[in-house]
Parts: sequence; structure tokens; C-alpha cells
Amino acid sequence: MKHLTFLFTATLAGLISAAAADPTPVHVTIHGDQPGKPVSPLLYGIFFEDINYAADGGLYAELVQNRSFEYYGPKQPSLFAWETVERQGMTCKPKANIAQPMHVNNPTYVTLILTGTSGEAGLANLGYDGGLPLKQGATYDFSIHARRTKGEPAPLRVALEAPDGTVLGRAEVPAPGTAWKKLTATLTPTRDEPLARLVVTCASPGELHLDMVSLFPRDTFKGRPNGLRKDLAQAIADLQPKTVRFPGGCIVHGNGLANAYRWKDTVGDVAQRRPNNNRWGYHQTYGLGYFEYMQFCEDIGATPVPILPVGVSCGFHAPFQVAVGEALQPWIQDVIDLVEFANGPVSSKWGRVRADMGHPAPFGLKMIGLGNEEHDTEAFRRIFPLFADALRAQHPEIQIVGTSGLGEGVPLFDLMKQCRTAISDEHYYNKPEWFLENHQRFDTWPRTGPKIYVGEYAARGNSLFNALAEAAYLTGIERNADHVIMTAYAPLLARYKFTQWNQANLIHFNDAQVVLTPNYHVQRLFGNHLGNRYLPNTVTLADGSPALSGNIPLLAVSPTLAESAGRIYLKLVNPTENPLSARIEFKGLGKIQTQAEATVMAGAREAANNQKQPDFIAPVSSPLAVGSTFTYAVPPMSVQIINLRTEK
Ligand code: AHR
Repeated sequence: MKHLTFLFTATLAGLISAAAADPTPVHVTIHGDQPGKPVSPLLYGIFFEDINYAADGGLYAELVQNRSFEYYGPKQPSLFAWETVERQGMTCKPKANIAQPMHVNNPTYVTLILTGTSGEAGLANLGYDGGLPLKQGATYDFSIHARRTKGEPAPLRVALEAPDGTVLGRAEVPAPGTAWKKLTATLTPTRDEPLARLVVTCASPGELHLDMVSLFPRDTFKGRPNGLRKDLAQAIADLQPKTVRFPGGCIVHGNGLANAYRWKDTVGDVAQRRPNNNRWGYHQTYGLGYFEYMQFCEDIGATPVPILPVGVSCGFHAPFQVAVGEALQPWIQDVIDLVEFANGPVSSKWGRVRADMGHPAPFGLKMIGLGNEEHDTEAFRRIFPLFADALRAQHPEIQIVGTSGLGEGVPLFDLMKQCRTAISDEHYYNKPEWFLENHQRFDTWPRTGPKIYVGEYAARGNSLFNALAEAAYLTGIERNADHVIMTAYAPLLARYKFTQWNQANLIHFNDAQVVLTPNYHVQRLFGNHLGNRYLPNTVTLADGSPALSGNIPLLAVSPTLAESAGRIYLKLVNPTENPLSARIEFKGLGKIQTQAEATVMAGAREAANNQKQPDFIAPVSSPLAVGSTFTYAVPPMSVQIINLRTEK
């Protein structure tokens, strides 16, 4: 009794700092005998934005940085990530050039002025972090666009070199002529090298013009050309996401209207895509563009949720810009045309573009997001209905995902309701305590109005405690997954040393490593174990009172039934440092098979994974004897899924 008094009076801080000697008894009663709410099959998804080098230098498998000499950094230095190579007497003067480019969308190229009667000279690319990572025996596809205006024609020499100059692979491409031409070769390194350079030289003096210098691993995710880095894509696929929200995020509306993400710039031949300044301060090649996003969705069985800008710029970035009058029409047309690109017949303009890129069949786009986390302005309130009405008029089959605006106060939700959007997208990055205190947020949420998409959220940290706060919140969402139909953690990817978002990210990586956070493991566990019916339940202390401290759950619980598989996924989250003894009772579910499996992730509150100990916090599975009633010892600071079978 003393212990119970302690539970009721302690703050969460007190609870989590004072480990109790004896496990607290908790009763979990699961009512298969009561009708449960349906669970949205789309509940767990991902949000992908090119922040923290998530696309270029990340998921997009291209190894050459600044391949098209268009680099948009703060100073737009065309030769960023390149250095001059001069050997055995030949010299090279590189300069950015724009006369007679290979394509209007790719206006800058490099001209090499080569001087000397012997030796070779040219350029070397340095990759994203001091070198290009190479694997022994793997195939790499090299390509370059080139022409020569002065000097005797001569082949280009291509080499993969270690930092000390050792050549790990070599090829030649035929001598460039006077017109732009794409030249290709394949290379196979003789050993692993984490910091290689791609060296392109020529032994004939004169003037050479080069553009779109690319080195791509053949072994991409699902073997797609112009595809995705395999290990990162696989880590994402392992989440089994049911939706992919892309391409942002703030990059959608950009720093200003000229910087917004326009999907038409990102499709077609990669050499003819118009790159852009990334709102997060680096260069976007758009090599990973709308086609590649939709193909990835198809490859992992996820529904695409593209987010389009609605003619207003990012509210965080002054001056706020708005497209008005005639100038608004192209923004609306982009939305309409996207449906044609994704779903239109091959005979249509944009359906043809898709088919020419290798996908004549429609992608089956079902949803479009209009705007990202917009600020509550008069301009947005005026513009948004124009977009929603135009899309609905031309494509009533497409579900509109609106934006509730910034934060849990959902300032634009009323507008979304008024505009009858099918879904409204809300975002919040809050402390773990907020997620624990608000796990009941949707219990009383009115079921009228748009369905809810929690399209960006994170508990601002990658420790176990942050992950458990998110897990506890998700149990509340599962309880309301008839109305909250989609979720996505944010941001998804972060390259070590190249982050703009430092609070928390789901997956950290560099060229050599992919480090999964405890938050990732929660997403994976929850996304991989979701039934179609939520089973009503009560979670009480020994005296029958709810197992809460204030609003904070001492044990957050979510049982869902996968009817066709005959499985119950019972999620239990203990966000405190107290061990619990849970008496679990199933009612109205027939016989439960005695052999179940428990997958548990537990540890110290601040424990996290890092490059030295990437698997320090990770789930562990083991068999568990269960029945219609059983007792389960819930470790402190833990999340677990008990995977049970019902007997048919
Ligand atoms: O996820 C990082 C950023 O957070 C997104 O770009 C934006 O939508 C939100 O403010």
C-alpha cells in the first residue's frame, strides 16, 4: 500500500528516478468479447525529406558529388568537390562555362584547358566525405557527357584511385567529338577503399568540355538504374512502411517561391533535370525525383503521399511570398498534372513521360498532400481552397491530404474541415513528457471532419526514453486508428557530420555504416506487428484504479487482432524505471496457444546507439509461455510485443 501511495503522488521525474524494489502489479484485461475499432492498414509510414543529406549523399546511390557543375551552395562554386589533376608535365586549368551547354536545364559545365606535350591532366572528384566508398569486385557504371573544341581527339582515361594514388580500377572512353555525347564505361575495383577518388584525365592538349560525370554502383536496391543505396533502402523497407510522404517538409515550399520543389524539374533524363538549391543549405540534383520516389514506393509496397507546394513560401523564411492572380495557375496545374504523370494513360503528355522513363503502367496514386505545415496566414486561407476545389473537380478519386499547420494546436484544422479534405496532416516535435502526457489525445477527438495524419513527429531525442515516449503515444494512436489513419516519424535519415536537424533522426549513416536508433526499432516493431482490429482493454492497478500517474501511463498497452492470421499483437510500454508485474487476461478470444514470442527492447533511460555500439539498444526475441491468463514481468524502461496465436 505504501508503494501505491508513492505511485499516485510521485511526479514522473520522481517515478523514473526511483527504482522500486518490488514489481508493481498491473492488471491488463483484453476484451475480445467487445467490438473493437478497425485499425487503419496505412497506420505506419515514413516521411522522407532531403535534409541531413538524406537524398544526395544519402539514399540516392550516386557517388560523385556535384556531377553537373551546377553546385548551389552559399557561393555556388561550380568546382565544389572537384580538384585538378596534373601529371608528368601536362597542366590543367578548369573553369566553369555556360556557352553551348548540353541542356538548358543544366547550363554550367567545366572546360579544361590542357597544356603540355606529355603526361595527362584532368579532374578528380572527392565524393561526399573525403572520398568515394568502393567495394572490391563490385561493378560501377561510369558515364560522362563530353565534347572537344581544340586539340587532337584522344580518349578519356578514367581511374579509381586510393588516396596514395594506387589505381584500383581503370577504363577508357572513346575520344569526345565536337558535339556533346554521353560516353560510358564500367569499372571494378580490385579492393575495398573507403576514400577513393574518381579521376578523369586526357593525354592530349587542347580544350575539353565535361558535364554530368557519374559513378553509380550497379548493385542498387532492387537493381534499379539511377537507383537507391541498398543498405539504406533496405533499412527503410524493413520498417514495412505503408505510406511514403515525400519530398518534404520545408524543401517543398523552399526559401522562396523560386526555390520551391517543382516536381516537373525532377523527372525525365537526369542530365536534363533542373537542379535546385536545397532549402537546408546544399545542392539538390533531383536525381532522386518523382519517378524514383514512386518506383521506390512500389518496390516496398507503400502508398505514395506526395506533398506539393501551394504557391506560398516557407513561413519561417522572410520575406513570405505568395503567388497571386495569373501566377497562381501554374502551381495548381502542377497538382493536376501530377495525377496524369502518376496515373494517366501513355497517350497523355505526362503519362508518356512516365512511360519513357520505363513505367508504362500507372503508379496508382491515391493521395496528394497540399502544402506542408503551413503558417496560418490570410494568404494561405485564401489560396488553399482554390487548390482543393481544382483537384477535387478534376480528380475526385484522389484523396486530399491537407495541412493542420504547425504544432499540436492544429491552427489550420478548421480550414481543412471547411474545405472537406479527406485527411489533415499534423506535426509536432515535443519533449518525451509531452508524448506521455498526451497519449490520450485522440480518445475524445471528434470523429467528424478529416481523418488525421500525424505526418511528422518526434520526441526530440534518440535515447531509449525518447523512443519509449513515442511508443507510448503510438499505443494511444492505435487505440484510435479508426480516425488517425497514418503516421510518420521525422526526420528519417541523417548523414553523420552533415546534419541540419540535430534534435533527433531515425537512421544515422555515413558511407560505411547505417546506425539504427531505438526510435527506429519502435517504428519497426510497431509497423511489423499491427492487426486489423483494436481490442478494447483496461489497465488497472491492484485497487482497480487506472494505471496512470496524472496522465502518464505506467504501462501503455495496445492489443490488436490480426483476424486472418489468427494473431494478437500485444504491445506493452513501460516508460518508468519501475519493474511491473502484469497480469494479462484475454476474454472472448477463444483458446490462446500456449507458445508465444516476446520481443523486448529495454535498457537504461538515456541509453542510445552510436557508431561504436550500433546495436547497444535493440530488440531481442524469445519464446514465452502464455495462456488466456498469464503473468508477465515487464522490465523497467521497456517496450515489448507479445506475439500470440489464437486457436481456430
Ligand atoms: O522534419 C524537419 C522539418 O520539420 C520539416 O522539413 C518541416 O516540415 C518541419 O518543420
